[in-house]
Amino acid sequence: MVLLKTNGDFPLRNTGEIALYGSGSRQTIKGGTGSGDVNSRFYVTVEQGLENAGFTITTKDWIDRYDRVQKQAHQEFVAGIKSKAQATGVPAIMLGMGAVMPEPEYELPFEGAGDTAIYVLSRISGEGSDRNAVDGDLKLTQTEIRDILNLAKTYSHFMLVLNVGGVVDLTPVLEVPNILILSQLGVVTGDALADVLLGQSYPSGKLTATWSAWDDYSQIGDFGQEDDTRYREGVYVGYRYFDSAAKTPLFPFGYGLGYTQFRIVESVVSLDGSHVNVTVTVKNMGSTSGKEVVQLYVSVPSGKLDQPFQTLAAFAKTEELAAAQSQQVTLSFAMEELSSFDTERAVDVLEAGDYLLRVGNSSRDTRICGIIRMDQELIIRQLSHAGGTPDFDDWKPEAQQWTYAGEADERANAPVLVLSANAFAAVLKPVVPEIDSAVRDLVEGLSDSELAWLCVGHYRSGNESGSVIGNAAFAVAGAAGETTTRLKEKGVPSLVMSDGPAGLRLSRQYGVDESGVYAVGDSIPSALLDYMDDTVMEALGLQKSGEAERSGRIFDQYCTALPIGTALAQSWNLDFCRACGDIVGDEMKRFGVHLWLAPAFNIHRSPLCGRNYEYFSEDPLISGRVAAAITLGVQRHPGCGVTIKHYVANNQETNRFRSNSVVSERALRDIYMRGFKICIEESQPHTLMTSYNLLNGVHTSERKDIIDGVLREEWGFDGIVISDWVVGGVQHGVKKYPYATAAKSIKAGNDVMMPGGEMDYTDVLTALAGTNKAVMLTRKEVQDCASRIIRIALRLTEAQTEPSIINGMGV
Ligand code: BGC
Repeated sequence: MVLLKTNGDFPLRNTGEIALYGSGSRQTIKGGTGSGDVNSRFYVTVEQGLENAGFTITTKDWIDRYDRVQKQAHQEFVAGIKSKAQATGVPAIMLGMGAVMPEPEYELPFEGAGDTAIYVLSRISGEGSDRNAVDGDLKLTQTEIRDILNLAKTYSHFMLVLNVGGVVDLTPVLEVPNILILSQLGVVTGDALADVLLGQSYPSGKLTATWSAWDDYSQIGDFGQEDDTRYREGVYVGYRYFDSAAKTPLFPFGYGLGYTQFRIVESVVSLDGSHVNVTVTVKNMGSTSGKEVVQLYVSVPSGKLDQPFQTLAAFAKTEELAAAQSQQVTLSFAMEELSSFDTERAVDVLEAGDYLLRVGNSSRDTRICGIIRMDQELIIRQLSHAGGTPDFDDWKPEAQQWTYAGEADERANAPVLVLSANAFAAVLKPVVPEIDSAVRDLVEGLSDSELAWLCVGHYRSGNESGSVIGNAAFAVAGAAGETTTRLKEKGVPSLVMSDGPAGLRLSRQYGVDESGVYAVGDSIPSALLDYMDDTVMEALGLQKSGEAERSGRIFDQYCTALPIGTALAQSWNLDFCRACGDIVGDEMKRFGVHLWLAPAFNIHRSPLCGRNYEYFSEDPLISGRVAAAITLGVQRHPGCGVTIKHYVANNQETNRFRSNSVVSERALRDIYMRGFKICIEESQPHTLMTSYNLLNGVHTSERKDIIDGVLREEWGFDGIVISDWVVGGVQHGVKKYPYATAAKSIKAGNDVMMPGGEMDYTDVLTALAGTNKAVMLTRKEVQDCASRIIRIALRLTEAQTEPSIINGMGV
């Protein structure tokens, strides 16, 4: 949790009466909607959490009345979507998916006894729709503003608690003395809040995205265009924009208070080859325990290339420090990691000049502790062009950048360390291990149709395809899909894939009969059920009610809903992230899942992206490092792999299957691809998912340059590349760009088309036969994909022992 404001009234000394208000008090949100929604057995709401802890809630009546208001508004909202669907001919599920119902306006009396009040403001968003900068979504409603301000005056102890997955514009309520981002923490949400309110635990998170007034966010690039979304702001995303445009956010990137305060003192800077080490001492100056996140930013000198004011280069979180306790922390990074992509030469370069090291506990609270002076320009690596080119030049900041009093003096007094080219070791190209000969031989012996089966996900003959929202697998109920089972007798195992990222997404119940396992009940995200008419259900081969037509025995299977991605990242605690990955890996083994479709870490380019809650940050370093930590946690379980997603420039939900992200090569490399590179280098994920969107006019899954070229050749990725879930059943409408196709994706090195359907299979087979008008495939091209799939399939299935729970037999 991130504490945004405090006046010292919290933590509370003990339980007692508490007045609880706000949309999230009973209808607490544990995570967003869509494939990232985890079907846990239960979760603890704020109301329950406070009661579990021993509080007496004095506003039950208010909460009951709010429920009625909300229910009514929801019914009207769903009816509105359905009539829009009828009028436009677009399936209601497409319009309703992820659609955010803005908070209603209402007037309810405050009658809660006691001198302490909590107002829980919640917001939800999800896959399929973006958020809107309107009252009740990104902005507060008039009702919320009025109530929050009144409560802050009425109760002597008042806290505004934000049960949100992303930014809300807090401008109208800034005077509130205590504001806490609870976030959406999965099963434990309400209990965790009670712990923090009572000081049994404490907030120590920091923002991983800038929280600002809506009007101050960059409007330089497009957002949410149907067809072409131009990323004109270039690398100036998030704090890089706020700093360089000299704007003051309400709460900057990296910011977060605690119940105690820290001082960062005595920094020492040293060089070890091209590695920079900054050692600081962190001291707890307050009277309670806490943890601090130390952040190291670097101002890279502008030369030929313009540069943001600063870039996060390293971070570290202290242990829990008791009052007056100190800890020495060393932050390290390699100068190579600060290189920028020079589009003209297609190189990563460090330009000559002074690199200012800024250490502190938020991006706007740092001091210069040293200067690394590069005495000449250094080309770190020669790369090739990839990703296409946009039809504009990126925005560049004016000369004026953010500064603060005393900065010039700090700079004048900072120690200077000179770094020359000879301190750098040569950057070696990673070598992708050869496919071993047994796999090659097996693949040689496969017929064209067997190869085609292997390169599309498993589907039942005659069935167009599986579900768009994680429900297309046959072996494990509610899992998102699996690779073909048709080649088992040839020694090719099938890989079962299940969604995330807030835990493992399976159906809560499944049945088993003579023809196998089937999902029953609510394996479809509940937020979608409102929009699923019979035609859509049938097209997706789904059942709506809990009554399975099949008559097998019914079993329960529950997974743990973890904190959402943004909350994990806001911990800035890589050990904690690894531990969450560990929980997922453990559950994967129990249920027989080989690949988890997570972590997801697209950049928070705009606070309006509907899936930001799944993603980590506006910054690629923290995104990549958190993803790597989670990956290590999952993959320490033999036989379990992650699927990092969505590669790449997938930063909006509007027209998500067919929107074109128009991005410069520099922004692509330095911002949008960078997290993927870090994660791959640090943790070797087994699988990567390309994104739905096009990148400069070509679907990412059909771009050989970013798959074979960047991923494999430059970064040494040796896993499988799969597509996002392109499903025939829900395709509709004429748009500027087409859907991605199986054959073109395979040609680009995207090994598997998921979830797979007859149409994909035929597309590959005809491309192999030379009768596909759109594209031709050689056997070698398909064999390369097939070999990579088999390599990982053998690696994972040989390592995974029999699941302890499958088909109800092991329960
Ligand atoms: C989402 C993916 C997800 C997949 C399978 C797609 O709609 O974009 O993130 O993994 O469905 O459920």
